[in-house]
Amino acid sequence: MEKEIKNSKTKTVEKTEKLKASNTKIEKRILFVASEAQPFCATGGLADVCGSLPKEIVNENPGVEIRTIIPLYSNIPDYFRKDFKYLGHIYVTLSWRKEYCGVFEYNYQGIKYYFIDNEKYFKRDGGEYGYMDDGERFAFFSRSVLEILPTIDYFPDIIHVNDWQSALIPTYLKTSEWDERYKNIKTVLTIHNIIYQGRYGAHILTDVLGVDQKYAGILIYDNDVNILKGAIVTADKITTVSESYAEEIKTPEHGAGLHQIVKQNEYKLKGILNGLDYDFYNPKTDKVIYTNYDANSLEVKAKNKEFLQKEFGLDVNPDKPILAFCSRMNVHKGFDLIKCCIEKLINELDIQFVGVGSGERVYEDFFRYLNSKYPSKVHVSLGYSLEIGKKIYSGSDIYLMPSLTEPCGLSQIVASRYGVISIVRETGGLKDTIKDFGCPGGGNGYTFRNANVGDLEYSIRRAVQDYKDKSGWAEKVKKVMSVDFSWKNTAKQYIDIYKEL
Ligand code: GLC
Repeated sequence: MEKEIKNSKTKTVEKTEKLKASNTKIEKRILFVASEAQPFCATGGLADVCGSLPKEIVNENPGVEIRTIIPLYSNIPDYFRKDFKYLGHIYVTLSWRKEYCGVFEYNYQGIKYYFIDNEKYFKRDGGEYGYMDDGERFAFFSRSVLEILPTIDYFPDIIHVNDWQSALIPTYLKTSEWDERYKNIKTVLTIHNIIYQGRYGAHILTDVLGVDQKYAGILIYDNDVNILKGAIVTADKITTVSESYAEEIKTPEHGAGLHQIVKQNEYKLKGILNGLDYDFYNPKTDKVIYTNYDANSLEVKAKNKEFLQKEFGLDVNPDKPILAFCSRMNVHKGFDLIKCCIEKLINELDIQFVGVGSGERVYEDFFRYLNSKYPSKVHVSLGYSLEIGKKIYSGSDIYLMPSLTEPCGLSQIVASRYGVISIVRETGGLKDTIKDFGCPGGGNGYTFRNANVGDLEYSIRRAVQDYKDKSGWAEKVKKVMSVDFSWKNTAKQYIDIYKEL
Protein backbone atom coordinates (compact mmCIF):
# COMPACT_ATOMS: atom_id res chain seq x y z
CA MET A 1 0.00 0.00 0.00
CA GLU A 2 2.90 2.39 0.79
CA LYS A 3 4.44 2.02 -2.62
CA GLU A 4 1.07 2.24 -4.23
CA ILE A 5 0.32 5.55 -2.56
CA LYS A 6 3.72 7.08 -2.99
CA ASN A 7 4.21 6.25 -6.63
CA SER A 8 0.70 6.90 -7.83
CA LYS A 9 1.05 9.16 -10.79
CA THR A 10 -2.28 10.65 -11.73
CA LYS A 11 -3.50 12.58 -14.71
CA THR A 12 -2.78 15.74 -12.69
CA VAL A 13 0.93 15.08 -12.68
CA GLU A 14 0.98 14.49 -16.39
CA LYS A 15 -1.00 17.65 -17.05
CA THR A 16 1.17 19.71 -14.75
CA GLU A 17 4.27 18.42 -16.46
CA LYS A 18 2.86 19.31 -19.87
CA LEU A 19 1.94 22.68 -18.51
CA LYS A 20 5.40 23.43 -17.29
CA ALA A 21 6.73 22.44 -20.65
CA SER A 22 4.34 24.83 -22.40
CA ASN A 23 5.27 27.75 -20.08
CA THR A 24 1.67 28.75 -19.37
CA LYS A 25 1.48 32.13 -17.70
CA ILE A 26 0.44 31.94 -14.04
CA GLU A 27 -2.41 34.36 -13.36
CA LYS A 28 -3.27 33.43 -9.78
CA ARG A 29 -1.07 32.12 -7.02
CA ILE A 30 -2.82 30.35 -4.17
CA LEU A 31 -1.44 29.09 -0.88
CA PHE A 32 -3.70 26.36 0.45
CA VAL A 33 -3.40 25.88 4.21
CA ALA A 34 -4.73 22.91 6.13
CA SER A 35 -4.19 20.98 9.33
CA GLU A 36 -4.35 17.63 7.49
CA ALA A 37 -4.10 16.35 3.92
CA GLN A 38 -4.14 12.91 2.32
CA PRO A 39 -1.94 10.96 1.96
CA PHE A 40 0.33 12.53 4.62
CA CYS A 41 -1.97 12.74 7.64
CA ALA A 42 -5.69 12.26 8.05
CA THR A 43 -8.37 12.13 10.68
CA GLY A 44 -11.36 12.54 8.40
CA GLY A 45 -12.93 14.09 5.31
CA LEU A 46 -10.97 17.32 5.73
CA ALA A 47 -7.82 15.47 4.68
CA ASP A 48 -9.53 13.99 1.62
CA VAL A 49 -10.60 17.41 0.45
CA CYS A 50 -7.31 19.15 1.23
CA GLY A 51 -5.37 16.40 -0.51
CA SER A 52 -7.47 16.42 -3.67
CA LEU A 53 -8.99 19.86 -4.30
CA PRO A 54 -5.71 21.68 -5.10
CA LYS A 55 -4.66 19.16 -7.74
CA GLU A 56 -8.14 19.14 -9.28
CA ILE A 57 -8.13 22.93 -9.54
CA VAL A 58 -4.69 22.98 -11.09
CA ASN A 59 -5.67 20.18 -13.40
CA GLU A 60 -8.51 22.17 -14.92
CA ASN A 61 -6.85 25.60 -14.77
CA PRO A 62 -3.40 26.01 -16.20
CA GLY A 63 -3.22 29.65 -15.10
CA VAL A 64 -3.56 28.83 -11.40
CA GLU A 65 -0.68 27.74 -9.21
CA ILE A 66 -1.49 26.16 -5.84
CA ARG A 67 0.93 25.17 -3.12
CA THR A 68 -0.20 23.45 0.06
CA ILE A 69 1.15 23.83 3.57
CA ILE A 70 0.53 21.55 6.58
CA PRO A 71 2.20 20.83 9.94
CA LEU A 72 4.97 18.24 10.11
CA TYR A 73 3.31 15.79 12.51
CA SER A 74 5.36 12.88 13.74
CA ASN A 75 2.91 10.38 12.24
CA ILE A 76 3.68 11.44 8.66
CA PRO A 77 5.14 8.23 7.24
CA ASP A 78 8.89 7.86 6.83
CA TYR A 79 8.52 6.73 3.24
CA PHE A 80 7.50 10.31 2.44
CA ARG A 81 9.57 12.07 5.04
CA LYS A 82 12.89 10.67 3.88
CA ASP A 83 12.50 12.55 0.59
CA PHE A 84 11.53 15.91 2.11
CA LYS A 85 13.88 18.76 1.32
CA TYR A 86 14.89 21.09 4.16
CA LEU A 87 14.51 24.71 3.03
CA GLY A 88 15.56 26.58 6.14
CA HIS A 89 14.24 27.81 9.45
CA ILE A 90 13.15 31.02 11.13
CA TYR A 91 11.94 32.03 14.60
CA VAL A 92 8.26 32.85 14.72
CA THR A 93 6.86 35.47 17.08
CA LEU A 94 3.92 34.33 19.15
CA SER A 95 3.24 37.02 21.72
CA TRP A 96 6.36 36.97 23.96
CA ARG A 97 7.53 33.61 22.56
CA LYS A 98 10.08 33.09 19.80
CA GLU A 99 9.50 29.61 18.41
CA TYR A 100 11.64 27.59 16.04
CA CYS A 101 9.95 26.98 12.69
CA GLY A 102 11.62 24.71 10.15
CA VAL A 103 10.29 24.33 6.60
CA PHE A 104 10.46 21.25 4.44
CA GLU A 105 9.34 20.88 0.84
CA TYR A 106 8.04 17.93 -1.15
CA ASN A 107 6.41 17.62 -4.57
CA TYR A 108 3.50 15.24 -4.75
CA GLN A 109 1.14 14.64 -7.67
CA GLY A 110 2.00 17.96 -9.24
CA ILE A 111 1.50 20.02 -6.06
CA LYS A 112 4.30 21.56 -4.03
CA TYR A 113 3.79 20.83 -0.33
CA TYR A 114 5.44 22.62 2.58
CA PHE A 115 5.66 21.14 6.07
CA ILE A 116 6.05 23.29 9.17
CA ASP A 117 8.41 21.73 11.68
CA ASN A 118 8.42 22.36 15.42
CA GLU A 119 8.84 19.29 17.62
CA LYS A 120 7.41 20.91 20.72
CA TYR A 121 4.10 21.39 18.95
CA PHE A 122 3.89 18.60 16.39
CA LYS A 123 6.01 15.66 17.58
CA ARG A 124 3.38 13.93 19.67
CA ASP A 125 2.14 10.38 19.88
CA GLY A 126 -1.57 10.93 20.13
CA GLY A 127 -2.33 12.12 16.59
CA GLU A 128 -3.17 15.53 15.22
CA TYR A 129 -5.58 17.10 17.73
CA GLY A 130 -7.03 16.86 21.20
CA TYR A 131 -4.26 18.46 23.28
CA MET A 132 -4.87 21.14 25.87
CA ASP A 133 -2.57 23.53 23.99
CA ASP A 134 -4.22 23.06 20.56
CA GLY A 135 -5.02 26.80 20.51
CA GLU A 136 -1.34 27.66 20.89
CA ARG A 137 -0.21 24.91 18.48
CA PHE A 138 -2.38 26.16 15.67
CA ALA A 139 -1.75 29.81 16.43
CA PHE A 140 1.92 28.96 15.94
CA PHE A 141 1.10 27.12 12.72
CA SER A 142 -0.97 30.04 11.35
CA ARG A 143 1.62 32.63 12.30
CA SER A 144 4.36 30.47 10.75
CA VAL A 145 2.53 30.24 7.44
CA LEU A 146 2.66 34.03 7.14
CA GLU A 147 6.17 34.49 8.43
CA ILE A 148 7.82 31.87 6.21
CA LEU A 149 6.60 33.36 2.92
CA PRO A 150 10.00 35.02 2.31
CA THR A 151 11.77 31.70 3.10
CA ILE A 152 9.73 29.78 0.54
CA ASP A 153 9.82 32.79 -1.76
CA TYR A 154 6.12 32.58 -2.54
CA PHE A 155 3.84 35.54 -2.03
CA PRO A 156 0.41 34.33 -3.09
CA ASP A 157 -2.52 36.40 -4.33
CA ILE A 158 -4.80 34.34 -2.11
CA ILE A 159 -4.36 32.31 1.06
CA HIS A 160 -7.06 29.67 1.28
CA VAL A 161 -7.52 28.47 4.87
CA ASN A 162 -9.53 25.50 6.11
CA ASP A 163 -11.39 25.18 9.41
CA TRP A 164 -10.37 26.78 12.70
CA GLN A 165 -6.83 25.41 12.79
CA SER A 166 -5.66 27.81 10.07
CA ALA A 167 -8.38 30.40 10.62
CA LEU A 168 -6.14 32.84 12.49
CA ILE A 169 -4.40 33.69 9.23
CA PRO A 170 -7.01 36.20 7.93
CA THR A 171 -7.13 37.73 11.41
CA TYR A 172 -3.33 38.02 11.70
CA LEU A 173 -3.19 39.64 8.27
CA LYS A 174 -5.60 42.31 9.47
CA THR A 175 -4.26 42.83 12.99
CA SER A 176 -0.45 42.71 12.65
CA GLU A 177 2.03 44.91 10.80
CA TRP A 178 3.16 43.37 7.49
CA ASP A 179 5.38 44.78 4.79
CA GLU A 180 4.33 45.78 1.25
CA ARG A 181 4.54 42.22 -0.09
CA TYR A 182 1.64 41.17 2.14
CA LYS A 183 -0.60 44.13 1.37
CA ASN A 184 -2.58 42.62 -1.50
CA ILE A 185 -3.02 39.10 -0.16
CA LYS A 186 -6.70 38.12 -0.05
CA THR A 187 -8.15 35.27 1.99
CA VAL A 188 -10.72 32.52 1.53
CA LEU A 189 -12.01 30.52 4.50
CA THR A 190 -13.60 27.12 3.94
CA ILE A 191 -15.74 25.86 6.82
CA HIS A 192 -15.74 22.07 6.78
CA ASN A 193 -17.62 21.82 10.04
CA ILE A 194 -18.84 24.77 12.06
CA ILE A 195 -19.03 22.69 15.22
CA TYR A 196 -15.25 23.00 15.61
CA GLN A 197 -14.43 26.64 16.32
CA GLY A 198 -11.18 26.86 18.26
CA ARG A 199 -12.80 28.34 21.32
CA TYR A 200 -10.64 29.27 24.31
CA GLY A 201 -10.62 31.53 27.36
CA ALA A 202 -10.39 35.25 26.55
CA HIS A 203 -7.04 35.51 28.36
CA ILE A 204 -5.21 33.78 25.48
CA LEU A 205 -5.92 36.71 23.14
CA THR A 206 -2.76 38.68 23.90
CA ASP A 207 -0.68 36.25 25.93
CA VAL A 208 -0.87 33.28 23.55
CA LEU A 209 -2.21 34.49 20.22
CA GLY A 210 -0.32 37.75 20.35
CA VAL A 211 -3.31 39.80 19.14
CA ASP A 212 -3.48 43.35 20.46
CA GLN A 213 -6.32 44.05 22.90
CA LYS A 214 -7.64 46.75 20.57
CA TYR A 215 -8.69 43.97 18.15
CA ALA A 216 -10.56 41.99 20.80
CA GLY A 217 -13.83 42.70 18.99
CA ILE A 218 -12.72 40.50 16.09
CA LEU A 219 -11.92 37.39 18.08
CA ILE A 220 -13.96 37.58 21.24
CA TYR A 221 -17.40 36.07 21.04
CA ASP A 222 -19.65 34.99 23.86
CA ASN A 223 -16.87 35.97 26.32
CA ASP A 224 -14.36 33.61 24.73
CA VAL A 225 -11.72 33.75 22.04
CA ASN A 226 -13.36 32.14 19.02
CA ILE A 227 -10.87 31.61 16.20
CA LEU A 228 -13.39 30.54 13.57
CA LYS A 229 -15.58 33.54 14.33
CA GLY A 230 -12.58 35.83 13.80
CA ALA A 231 -12.05 34.41 10.32
CA ILE A 232 -15.74 34.62 9.40
CA VAL A 233 -15.41 38.34 10.08
CA THR A 234 -11.98 38.94 8.52
CA ALA A 235 -11.81 36.59 5.49
CA ASP A 236 -12.63 38.06 2.08
CA LYS A 237 -14.72 35.07 1.03
CA ILE A 238 -16.21 32.15 2.91
CA THR A 239 -17.17 28.83 1.46
CA THR A 240 -18.67 25.77 3.02
CA VAL A 241 -18.85 22.28 1.68
CA SER A 242 -22.40 21.98 0.35
CA GLU A 243 -25.17 24.35 -0.69
CA SER A 244 -27.62 23.10 1.91
CA TYR A 245 -25.09 23.49 4.71
CA ALA A 246 -24.43 27.09 3.63
CA GLU A 247 -28.11 27.76 4.33
CA GLU A 248 -28.25 25.65 7.48
CA ILE A 249 -25.39 27.39 9.31
CA LYS A 250 -27.45 30.57 9.32
CA THR A 251 -29.92 28.83 11.64
CA PRO A 252 -29.68 28.19 15.39
CA GLU A 253 -30.13 24.45 14.81
CA HIS A 254 -26.94 24.06 12.73
CA GLY A 255 -24.92 27.24 13.37
CA ALA A 256 -23.39 25.94 16.62
CA GLY A 257 -23.84 29.35 18.23
CA LEU A 258 -22.40 31.28 15.27
CA HIS A 259 -25.54 31.57 13.12
CA GLN A 260 -25.88 35.31 13.67
CA ILE A 261 -22.27 35.97 12.72
CA VAL A 262 -22.72 33.81 9.62
CA LYS A 263 -25.88 35.69 8.75
CA GLN A 264 -24.13 39.06 9.05
CA ASN A 265 -21.47 37.80 6.64
CA GLU A 266 -23.67 35.87 4.25
CA TYR A 267 -22.85 38.30 1.44
CA LYS A 268 -19.45 36.62 1.12
CA LEU A 269 -20.61 33.03 1.78
CA LYS A 270 -21.06 30.33 -0.85
CA GLY A 271 -21.78 26.60 -0.58
CA ILE A 272 -19.72 24.41 -2.92
CA LEU A 273 -20.22 20.66 -2.80
CA ASN A 274 -17.07 18.61 -2.21
CA GLY A 275 -15.97 16.26 -4.90
CA LEU A 276 -14.25 12.93 -4.50
CA ASP A 277 -10.74 11.98 -5.58
CA TYR A 278 -11.73 9.58 -8.36
CA ASP A 279 -8.20 8.21 -8.64
CA PHE A 280 -7.84 7.40 -4.96
CA TYR A 281 -11.32 5.92 -4.63
CA ASN A 282 -11.78 3.74 -7.68
CA PRO A 283 -13.02 0.14 -7.31
CA LYS A 284 -11.64 -0.62 -10.75
CA THR A 285 -8.02 0.11 -9.82
CA ASP A 286 -7.98 0.12 -6.02
CA LYS A 287 -5.10 -2.12 -4.86
CA VAL A 288 -6.39 -2.30 -1.30
CA ILE A 289 -9.63 -4.16 -1.96
CA TYR A 290 -9.72 -7.91 -2.57
CA THR A 291 -10.56 -7.79 -6.25
CA ASN A 292 -11.40 -4.99 -8.71
CA TYR A 293 -14.75 -4.28 -10.33
CA ASP A 294 -16.98 -1.65 -11.89
CA ALA A 295 -20.70 -1.23 -12.58
CA ASN A 296 -20.50 -3.82 -15.38
CA SER A 297 -18.88 -6.52 -13.28
CA LEU A 298 -20.99 -6.65 -10.14
CA GLU A 299 -20.43 -10.40 -9.89
CA VAL A 300 -16.87 -9.44 -8.88
CA LYS A 301 -18.22 -7.16 -6.17
CA ALA A 302 -19.95 -10.29 -4.85
CA LYS A 303 -16.46 -11.86 -4.54
CA ASN A 304 -15.40 -8.93 -2.36
CA LYS A 305 -18.39 -9.61 -0.17
CA GLU A 306 -17.37 -13.22 0.24
CA PHE A 307 -13.81 -12.19 1.18
CA LEU A 308 -15.11 -9.64 3.64
CA GLN A 309 -17.41 -12.14 5.31
CA LYS A 310 -14.49 -14.58 5.64
CA GLU A 311 -12.06 -11.98 6.96
CA PHE A 312 -14.58 -10.71 9.51
CA GLY A 313 -15.63 -14.22 10.58
CA LEU A 314 -19.24 -13.74 9.46
CA ASP A 315 -21.48 -16.39 7.89
CA VAL A 316 -20.40 -16.63 4.27
CA ASN A 317 -23.64 -16.13 2.42
CA PRO A 318 -24.25 -13.94 -0.64
CA ASP A 319 -27.94 -13.50 0.18
CA LYS A 320 -27.53 -11.73 3.50
CA PRO A 321 -27.36 -7.98 3.03
CA ILE A 322 -24.39 -6.37 4.79
CA LEU A 323 -25.15 -3.03 6.43
CA ALA A 324 -22.06 -0.88 6.99
CA PHE A 325 -20.50 2.29 8.30
CA CYS A 326 -16.99 3.77 8.11
CA SER A 327 -17.06 6.77 10.37
CA ARG A 328 -16.03 8.57 13.50
CA MET A 329 -18.51 7.41 16.11
CA ASN A 330 -20.13 10.43 17.68
CA VAL A 331 -23.52 11.85 18.35
CA HIS A 332 -23.44 14.15 15.28
CA LYS A 333 -22.98 11.19 12.99
CA GLY A 334 -26.27 9.79 14.26
CA PHE A 335 -24.83 6.92 16.30
CA ASP A 336 -27.56 7.20 18.92
CA LEU A 337 -30.09 6.37 16.23
CA ILE A 338 -28.08 3.36 15.09
CA LYS A 339 -27.51 2.23 18.67
CA CYS A 340 -31.22 2.34 19.43
CA CYS A 341 -32.38 0.06 16.63
CA ILE A 342 -29.56 -2.05 15.24
CA GLU A 343 -29.66 -4.94 17.73
CA LYS A 344 -33.38 -5.37 17.27
CA LEU A 345 -32.96 -5.40 13.50
CA ILE A 346 -30.07 -7.88 13.66
CA ASN A 347 -32.43 -10.21 15.52
CA GLU A 348 -35.47 -9.66 13.35
CA LEU A 349 -34.00 -9.40 9.87
CA ASP A 350 -31.54 -11.70 8.15
CA ILE A 351 -28.77 -9.11 7.98
CA GLN A 352 -25.10 -8.62 8.82
CA PHE A 353 -23.62 -5.46 10.27
CA VAL A 354 -20.03 -4.22 9.85
CA GLY A 355 -18.15 -1.01 10.53
CA VAL A 356 -14.85 0.68 11.17
CA GLY A 357 -13.87 3.79 13.07
CA SER A 358 -13.09 5.17 16.45
CA GLY A 359 -15.05 7.50 18.64
CA GLU A 360 -16.90 8.04 21.86
CA ARG A 361 -16.61 5.37 24.50
CA VAL A 362 -20.33 4.72 24.73
CA TYR A 363 -20.51 3.64 21.07
CA GLU A 364 -17.24 1.72 21.09
CA ASP A 365 -18.46 -0.24 24.11
CA PHE A 366 -21.79 -0.89 22.46
CA PHE A 367 -20.05 -2.32 19.37
CA ARG A 368 -17.73 -4.44 21.52
CA TYR A 369 -20.86 -5.90 23.06
CA LEU A 370 -22.45 -6.58 19.65
CA ASN A 371 -19.22 -8.13 18.33
CA SER A 372 -19.10 -10.60 21.18
CA LYS A 373 -22.80 -11.42 21.23
CA TYR A 374 -23.29 -11.87 17.45
CA PRO A 375 -19.90 -13.00 16.06
CA SER A 376 -21.39 -14.50 12.89
CA LYS A 377 -23.49 -11.43 12.14
CA VAL A 378 -21.54 -8.42 13.42
CA HIS A 379 -17.99 -7.20 13.04
CA VAL A 380 -17.13 -3.63 13.99
CA SER A 381 -13.43 -2.86 13.82
CA LEU A 382 -12.42 -0.25 16.38
CA GLY A 383 -9.82 2.31 15.30
CA TYR A 384 -9.46 4.36 12.15
CA SER A 385 -8.19 2.35 9.18
CA LEU A 386 -8.47 3.43 5.57
CA GLU A 387 -7.56 -0.06 4.44
CA ILE A 388 -10.34 -1.79 6.36
CA GLY A 389 -12.69 1.01 5.32
CA LYS A 390 -12.05 0.38 1.65
CA LYS A 391 -12.56 -3.36 2.09
CA ILE A 392 -15.87 -2.65 3.78
CA TYR A 393 -17.02 -0.40 0.94
CA SER A 394 -16.05 -3.04 -1.59
CA GLY A 395 -17.91 -5.85 0.13
CA SER A 396 -21.03 -4.41 1.69
CA ASP A 397 -24.49 -3.58 0.35
CA ILE A 398 -26.16 -0.86 2.41
CA TYR A 399 -24.45 2.16 3.94
CA LEU A 400 -25.80 3.84 7.10
CA MET A 401 -25.33 7.58 7.57
CA PRO A 402 -28.11 9.02 9.72
CA SER A 403 -26.15 12.18 10.72
CA LEU A 404 -27.86 14.83 12.81
CA THR A 405 -25.81 17.45 11.00
CA GLU A 406 -23.48 16.87 8.04
CA PRO A 407 -21.63 19.64 6.23
CA CYS A 408 -20.94 17.48 3.20
CA GLY A 409 -20.12 13.94 4.16
CA LEU A 410 -17.80 11.94 1.96
CA SER A 411 -18.57 8.38 3.05
CA GLN A 412 -21.94 8.32 1.30
CA ILE A 413 -20.11 9.41 -1.87
CA VAL A 414 -17.37 6.81 -1.49
CA ALA A 415 -20.07 4.21 -0.78
CA SER A 416 -21.86 5.14 -4.01
CA ARG A 417 -18.62 4.91 -5.98
CA TYR A 418 -18.11 1.36 -4.63
CA GLY A 419 -21.72 0.32 -5.30
CA VAL A 420 -23.04 0.48 -1.74
CA ILE A 421 -26.50 2.03 -1.43
CA SER A 422 -26.82 4.71 1.23
CA ILE A 423 -29.48 5.37 3.84
CA VAL A 424 -29.09 9.00 4.92
CA ARG A 425 -30.87 11.63 6.91
CA GLU A 426 -31.84 14.67 4.83
CA THR A 427 -29.36 17.21 6.13
CA GLY A 428 -26.51 19.29 4.65
CA GLY A 429 -24.46 17.52 2.01
CA LEU A 430 -26.35 14.26 2.53
CA LYS A 431 -29.45 16.00 1.22
CA ASP A 432 -27.50 17.40 -1.75
CA THR A 433 -25.95 14.10 -2.80
CA ILE A 434 -28.50 11.38 -2.03
CA LYS A 435 -32.09 11.52 -3.32
CA ASP A 436 -34.66 8.94 -2.33
CA PHE A 437 -35.43 6.20 -4.86
CA GLY A 438 -39.06 7.22 -4.49
CA CYS A 439 -38.60 10.79 -5.68
CA PRO A 440 -39.72 11.92 -9.15
CA GLY A 441 -37.20 10.74 -11.72
CA GLY A 442 -35.87 8.11 -9.30
CA GLY A 443 -33.07 8.61 -6.82
CA ASN A 444 -29.85 7.04 -5.63
CA GLY A 445 -30.56 5.93 -2.07
CA TYR A 446 -32.94 5.95 0.87
CA THR A 447 -33.54 9.13 2.80
CA PHE A 448 -35.56 10.22 5.82
CA ARG A 449 -36.16 13.66 7.27
CA ASN A 450 -36.52 13.55 11.03
CA ALA A 451 -33.81 12.47 13.42
CA ASN A 452 -35.79 9.71 15.01
CA VAL A 453 -35.16 6.02 15.39
CA GLY A 454 -38.45 4.93 13.85
CA ASP A 455 -37.61 6.68 10.59
CA LEU A 456 -34.14 5.13 10.39
CA GLU A 457 -35.57 1.73 11.20
CA TYR A 458 -38.24 2.11 8.53
CA SER A 459 -35.61 3.06 5.94
CA ILE A 460 -33.46 0.05 6.82
CA ARG A 461 -36.48 -2.23 6.48
CA ARG A 462 -37.27 -0.70 3.07
CA ALA A 463 -33.70 -1.26 1.85
CA VAL A 464 -33.53 -4.83 3.17
CA GLN A 465 -36.87 -5.62 1.51
CA ASP A 466 -35.67 -4.18 -1.82
CA TYR A 467 -32.44 -6.16 -1.53
CA LYS A 468 -34.42 -9.41 -1.83
CA ASP A 469 -35.22 -8.56 -5.45
CA LYS A 470 -31.80 -9.44 -6.86
CA SER A 471 -32.14 -7.99 -10.34
CA GLY A 472 -33.92 -4.86 -9.10
CA TRP A 473 -31.12 -4.34 -6.57
CA ALA A 474 -28.42 -4.77 -9.24
CA GLU A 475 -30.17 -2.07 -11.30
CA LYS A 476 -30.16 0.23 -8.30
CA VAL A 477 -26.47 -0.41 -7.64
CA LYS A 478 -25.67 0.42 -11.26
CA LYS A 479 -27.66 3.62 -11.05
CA VAL A 480 -25.94 4.64 -7.81
CA MET A 481 -22.52 3.98 -9.32
CA SER A 482 -23.31 6.05 -12.40
CA VAL A 483 -23.78 9.37 -10.56
CA ASP A 484 -20.71 11.58 -11.05
CA PHE A 485 -19.34 12.92 -7.77
CA SER A 486 -15.90 13.82 -9.05
CA TRP A 487 -14.45 17.31 -8.55
CA LYS A 488 -15.06 18.01 -12.24
CA ASN A 489 -18.41 19.59 -11.50
CA THR A 490 -17.49 21.69 -8.50
CA ALA A 491 -13.76 22.55 -8.51
CA LYS A 492 -14.41 25.28 -11.07
CA GLN A 493 -16.59 27.12 -8.59
CA TYR A 494 -13.49 27.72 -6.49
CA ILE A 495 -11.83 29.22 -9.54
CA ASP A 496 -14.73 31.66 -9.88
CA ILE A 497 -14.18 32.70 -6.28
CA TYR A 498 -10.43 33.12 -6.77
CA LYS A 499 -11.10 35.20 -9.86
CA GLU A 500 -13.61 37.42 -8.09
CA LEU A 501 -10.90 38.36 -5.61
C1 GLC B 1 -15.83 17.57 7.82
C2 GLC B 1 -17.34 17.41 7.72
C3 GLC B 1 -17.74 16.52 6.57
C4 GLC B 1 -17.06 16.99 5.29
C5 GLC B 1 -15.56 17.07 5.50
C6 GLC B 1 -14.81 17.57 4.28
O1 GLC B 1 -15.24 16.38 8.24
O2 GLC B 1 -17.85 16.89 8.93
O3 GLC B 1 -19.14 16.54 6.39
O4 GLC B 1 -17.34 16.10 4.24
O5 GLC B 1 -15.26 17.94 6.56
O6 GLC B 1 -15.23 18.84 3.88
